[in-house]
Amino acid sequence: MYICPVCKKRLKKLDNVLHCQNGHSFDIARKGYVNLLTTNKRNPKNSGDNADLVKARTNFLDKGHYLPLAERIAQAAQRELANSKQPVIIDSGCGEGFYTCVYARQLPEARLFGIDISKAAVSHCMTRVHIAGIGNCEFAVASSFELPFLKESADMVISTFAPVANDEYARVLKKGGKLIVVSPSPRHLFELKAVAYDEPYENKLNVYGLNKFELTSEEIFEYTRCIETTQDILDLFSMTPYLYKTSSEGIERLKALDELTVTCGFSIQVYTKKQF
Ligand SMILES: C[S@@+](CC[C@H](N)C(=O)[O-])C[C@H]1O[C@@H](n2cnc3c(N)ncnc32)[C@H](O)[C@@H]1O
Ligand SMILES: [Zn+2]
Repeated sequence: MYICPVCKKRLKKLDNVLHCQNGHSFDIARKGYVNLLTTNKRNPKNSGDNADLVKARTNFLDKGHYLPLAERIAQAAQRELANSKQPVIIDSGCGEGFYTCVYARQLPEARLFGIDISKAAVSHCMTRVHIAGIGNCEFAVASSFELPFLKESADMVISTFAPVANDEYARVLKKGGKLIVVSPSPRHLFELKAVAYDEPYENKLNVYGLNKFELTSEEIFEYTRCIETTQDILDLFSMTPYLYKTSSEGIERLKALDELTVTCGFSIQVYTKKQF
C-alpha cells in the first residue's frame, strides 16, 4: 500500500524494512510505524504537534469528551462505505490515534492507515493500538500534502481538525471515493472563549476550496459536556488555536475554574470525488 516518498514506486516489506525497486529503504520503528518523511521535508517548523501537545490531547480525548463525535464520524463512514468490501480508509492528520482506533473498531472489515507529520503523535498511535489490541490499523509519519499511497488505492479519506489537501486526496482516492472533513462549528467551545476573551466570537466555518470533490452531505453535530477538572480544561484549551491568542489574564481566568460546561460542536462534511 505504501509508496516510496523519493521515487514514488511501491514499497515492499522485507524483515523490518520497507524497500523500493530503486534501493531506497525505510526502517519500521520498534513500535511498528514507519517514517516516510524524506529528510528535506523534515522541517522543524513543519513537524506538527510536539510531545507536550500530544500528551494534552491524549489526556483530554481519553476522558471520552469527543467519543460521541468519533462514533458519529464512524457511522457516517459505515453509511458511505456500505457497498465496499474491506475498504481502505486513510485518516489524514490522525494525531495520536484516538479517532483512528474508534473507526477501526466500528469498521472491523476495513483497513485503516493513519498518517501524521508529527512523529510524537504517530508513536503514540502505536501505543494505542497495542494497548487496545487493534489489528486493522497501520501508521506512518508523512504529510497530508504528499501522501505515501498509490493513486486510486483508498475508498475513503477522513480529515478531522487537520490540514486538507484537495489534490492529494483526489489522487489517492478510487473512482467515486469519499472524503469526510470535520471542523469546528460556529458554537464549538463558545463557553471556553467566553472565559478566555473579553469579547468571545463564534467560529467562521472553514472553506477548503475542494474543487476536485462534490459536497454530498453536511451535518452540524453538537452536544454539551461538563469538563470536570482544571487540568482537563487546560488540556482542552491547549488543543485549540486560542492557546496562541489569549492574554495572560484570560489564561489566569481559565486556571481559576474547576469545572466548565462547554458546547462541543462540529461540522461533518461528506464529499465524493468528482469524475474527470
Ligand atoms: C488539531 S490536530 C488533530 C489531530 C486528530 N485528527 C484529532 O482530531 O485528534 C492536527 C494534526 O495535524 C497534524 N498535521 C499538521 N500538518 C500536517 C501535515 N502537513 N500533514 C499531516 N499532518 C499534519 C498535526 O501534527 C496534528 O496531529
Ligand atoms: Zn524509491
